[in-house]
Amino acid sequence: KRLGILLSGRGSNFLAIARSIREGRLPNAEIAIVISNVADAPGLEAARELRLSTAQFISKGRKRAEHDADVAACLRKHNVDLIILAGYMRLLSPEFIAAFPNRILNIHPSLLPAFPGLDAQTQAFDYGCKIAGCTVHFVDEHLDHGVIILQHAIPVLETDDAHSLADRILAEEHIAYTEAIARVLSSEYHFENRRYVQNKA
Ligand code: GRF
Repeated sequence: KRLGILLSGRGSNFLAIARSIREGRLPNAEIAIVISNVADAPGLEAARELRLSTAQFISKGRKRAEHDADVAACLRKHNVDLIILAGYMRLLSPEFIAAFPNRILNIHPSLLPAFPGLDAQTQAFDYGCKIAGCTVHFVDEHLDHGVIILQHAIPVLETDDAHSLADRILAEEHIAYTEAIARVLSSEYHFENRRYVQNKA
């Protein structure tokens, strides 16, 4: 199956997925295209170094629907089966989401529905949570809201500050995203009452 990666920054989740493919943890996946909406995203540079197909569509100052139409056309051109948001810091238009029904995944650094939006790790730390983690979910038209595929929880340690917590959540994200993609690619699926259900073969 062909993955289309959308990113805006560092790209460590993208790189973890690329490593999983190289090391055989995602046997039926390949990265078809890496797209950034930010010109000098380090993740895009890393994709070029890996000799992957890349594209950039700078979103700043553009109408959301128009920008998204360009991205969608690029994904179609590369015959993408599954779209992976990996630190893509731009809301998607309803048209874009409708164009790829149940085929867009996102990772969020909290145990949703707690702490949607920005700086979720700091929000969890400041709240005094004893458990934190990450969520891989399908993308719908609401922010950090779609059907959950899986969540990984980690304890918040006495010795943690917001940075060390964010680091350990990120390490867990790198494991969780591969697991979720493997699951989604392993069989057809449908949703029942906000549950992700794999179809029987
Ligand atoms: C991750 O924390 C992810 O959960 C959030 O954005 C961050 C992206 O990091 N959606 P990276 O670019 O993958 O390193």
